Amino acid sequence: MAFEDKIKELLDKRELAQLGGGQKRIDAQHSKNKLTARERIALLLDEGSFEEYDMFVTHRCTDFGLEKQEYLSDGVVTGHGTIDGRVVYVFSQDFTVFGGSLSESFAKKICKVMDQAMKVGAPLIGINDSGGARIQEGVQSLAGYAEIFERNILASGVIPQISAIFGPCAGGAVYSPALTDFIIMSKDTSYMFVTGPKVVKTVTGEIVTDEELGGAVVHGSKSGVSHMIADDEQEGIMLIRKLMSYLPQNNLEEPPVVPCDDPIDRLEDQLNYFIPDNPNKPYDIKDIIHAIVDNGEFLEIHRHYAPNIVVGFSRFNGMPVGIVANQPSYLAGVLDINASRKAARFVRFCDAFNIPLLTLVDVPGFLPGTAQEYGGIIIHGAKLLFAYGEATVPKVTIILRKAYGGAYDVMSSKHLRGDINYAWPTAEIAVMGPKGAIEILHSKKLSEITDQKEREEYIFKAEAEYKAKFANPYNAARYGFIDDVIEPRNTRFRVIRALQALATKKEVNPPKKHSNIPL
Ligand code: HXC
Repeated sequence: MAFEDKIKELLDKRELAQLGGGQKRIDAQHSKNKLTARERIALLLDEGSFEEYDMFVTHRCTDFGLEKQEYLSDGVVTGHGTIDGRVVYVFSQDFTVFGGSLSESFAKKICKVMDQAMKVGAPLIGINDSGGARIQEGVQSLAGYAEIFERNILASGVIPQISAIFGPCAGGAVYSPALTDFIIMSKDTSYMFVTGPKVVKTVTGEIVTDEELGGAVVHGSKSGVSHMIADDEQEGIMLIRKLMSYLPQNNLEEPPVVPCDDPIDRLEDQLNYFIPDNPNKPYDIKDIIHAIVDNGEFLEIHRHYAPNIVVGFSRFNGMPVGIVANQPSYLAGVLDINASRKAARFVRFCDAFNIPLLTLVDVPGFLPGTAQEYGGIIIHGAKLLFAYGEATVPKVTIILRKAYGGAYDVMSSKHLRGDINYAWPTAEIAVMGPKGAIEILHSKKLSEITDQKEREEYIFKAEAEYKAKFANPYNAARYGFIDDVIEPRNTRFRVIRALQALATKKEVNPPKKHSNIPL
């Protein structure tokens, strides 16, 4: 073959590979408001940075007439590229080829990029759009999944792993994304479930749609499986790029610091008057977050799941920080099962990837009741306690208002190796709120008072006495549990100072195989 013909052969093959399962199926994909595997990669990575691997791989199956149907790349596009100039590895499942179903060759391609990502210490981003195990390949396909799972597990805590779900993701296929750090789902075009609506109907008689069973809204708000919901794929891809900007390449690197044009000593006078006088009056914690972080930017994770706690990424003086904050405007910011799980996972992610933690506390305690106890709030609450207590990244805590009971301890208190613990003058640090405390401490006396007016006067006096003692930060500060009581308007500056001082923090946990977090 002449040299020119060889080049032409290569270019023809490349062109054919670009078409995946063919133009008809690409059109069908577009008609469902979905992009193709390659279009998604092009949007995700810096322009022209994608280096594709294994374009010429095909499947090896000779059953069910599959030997007559071969597509270059075999249903998954893999390789590496850059996001804001930093290397990432990617795989993008191609629904136009056998419905993006996973074959032995397909799995090997994914494993190859996972192995390389681990060797070079670069994040892995997987875009899922697949009918699951390639039925014609049987156990080869199941084996392929498990090979991927094992790599997800070994990579956990070493390189950031991000999953986008932009189409079907069903059966055991859901477990690879579930093993990664973040799942982003697109509204109306993606779903995840272990068993689909047909099986559900057969087994339980329940009739549900794909969307009701495992759509983006369901997983973003009810199950918490999805960390972010995007209106469409384009937004989902932009969210991945944004998320990446807060993350280091791997667990041995520091997160990327960017130049900061927001003055570090910017005072926020409004914060001095922000906390309502009435301790039962809610406010939106996100107003405080936006006021103190660089340029008001906050990338919220799990926005619609367990909104009684808020978690997400921001920057202080250009340095990425993970924020965990009770949300008084939802269930008074109480800690329940879902909030504990949500925050624990976030704290552990930040700790694994050297991202300092800022905790903003206004918590009335744990949510009481049989639903919570039967659901195991003891174990789930312990997850958050464990996560904070184990974390060795810089931990800065500010008590804004209530810090009651066990929740005081849990929320990055001094006693869980909190590095710098501040309080606003509005802080109230106690075993419980005044009302509950008086009912217990004075129960005998109260049972003896029959006159209603007299009873009210007694309670009023007792509560005033209790508040004078505990409805302030100074009792805790007296013991050194609070390092300083700060003026709210200075918060941004004080946090930045604290983080600067802690930047070189080194703390090591005792050697062990691994801890046994209460799962
Ligand atoms: C082989 C598959 C396939 C699969 C889809 N296709 N899923 N081929 N193995 N798992 C093919 C179809 O034959 C079709 O080929 C093309 O992909 C597009 O599929 P359609 O059905 O036409 O598309 P759509 O109507 O959009 O429906 C998509 C779908 C449906 C909902 C994903 O295809 C589906 O239900 N597939 C089976 C899903 C499933 O049960 N998978 C196994 C799950 S269990 P043509 O040639 O017509 O274009 C599992 C175990 C993993 O995955 C275990 C890991 C531990």
